[in-house]
Amino acid sequence: MSGLRDKPVLVVGATRGIGLAVAKELAACGARLGITGRDPERVKAVAQDLKAWGAVLDVLDRAAIPLVISRFAEEVGLYGLVYNAGISPAFTRAEKLDPEVWDQVLAVNLTGAFLVAQAFAQRLQQEGSVVLVGSVLSLKDGERLAAYTAAKAGLWGLTRALALDWANRGIRVNLVAPGWTETEMTAGLRAHPVLGPRLLQEIPLGRMAQPEEVARMVVFLLEPENRYLTGGVYAVDGGVSAK
Ligand SMILES: NC(=O)c1ccc[n+]([C@@H]2O[C@H](COP(=O)([O-])OP(=O)(O)OC[C@H]3O[C@@H](n4cnc5c(N)ncnc54)[C@H](OP(=O)(O)O)[C@@H]3O)[C@@H](O)[C@H]2O)c1
Repeated sequence: MSGLRDKPVLVVGATRGIGLAVAKELAACGARLGITGRDPERVKAVAQDLKAWGAVLDVLDRAAIPLVISRFAEEVGLYGLVYNAGISPAFTRAEKLDPEVWDQVLAVNLTGAFLVAQAFAQRLQQEGSVVLVGSVLSLKDGERLAAYTAAKAGLWGLTRALALDWANRGIRVNLVAPGWTETEMTAGLRAHPVLGPRLLQEIPLGRMAQPEEVARMVVFLLEPENRYLTGGVYAVDGGVSAK
């Protein structure tokens, strides 16, 4: 039986892609699951399907973040948190990057993670586990992805800082660093006749990850049995970060 059975776990950004795969895995473990998404219809459908608590949350709405965390704490409880929200709207050389796009990417991918984790830790009374979803670009260079790379590298710094600040409260914080994964985020790239095949050649295992393969690592880090793991980064990238 999973140690996550009956543990309250909230996944921020859980109605598609990697977040949805994490939510499904947690539901299968018997966790008391909460999910968020931006589209009310999708939130309702996923929550019904997984018998989960659901809330609409756009992390750009800063005031909403502590309200959603408080509602989840009161209605379900608190143990685990997964921050999966992330965007990658620009693939362009840095000198052409629109500063507004920079702000948006940093706001969703980095500031949102801090604000959600902070609200979670403010409400948590006992031990807990936080998993942030970074990227292989938390660890490596990201050509034509300056904002995304800066935000995801920032998440790795944030992971270590939070892990140290909260270790004496029994709150563990870890980072999962996926490589290229088959989701909507990579649909355009996978369909590209030149870039798609070239990308596969750069992955030592020769293929992209499935969202479920990333989800397994997220769930592993949440499990109470793995209580000695904090402040770490765990790549699920087919060998890309080893190069
Ligand atoms: N796919 C890859 O190759 C890859 C590689 C490395 C890392 N990652 C990271 O993995 C995570 C999941 O990505 P994915 O591949 O599953 O992509 P995806 O299908 O595009 O999903 C993106 C997720 O971020 C959420 N999100 C975006 N903007 C948001 C906002 N303002 N407020 C709240 N939620 C927001 C989305 O919520 P809605 O559904 O409500 O829009 C969705 O859950 C991201 O952090 C991404 O950077 C992905």
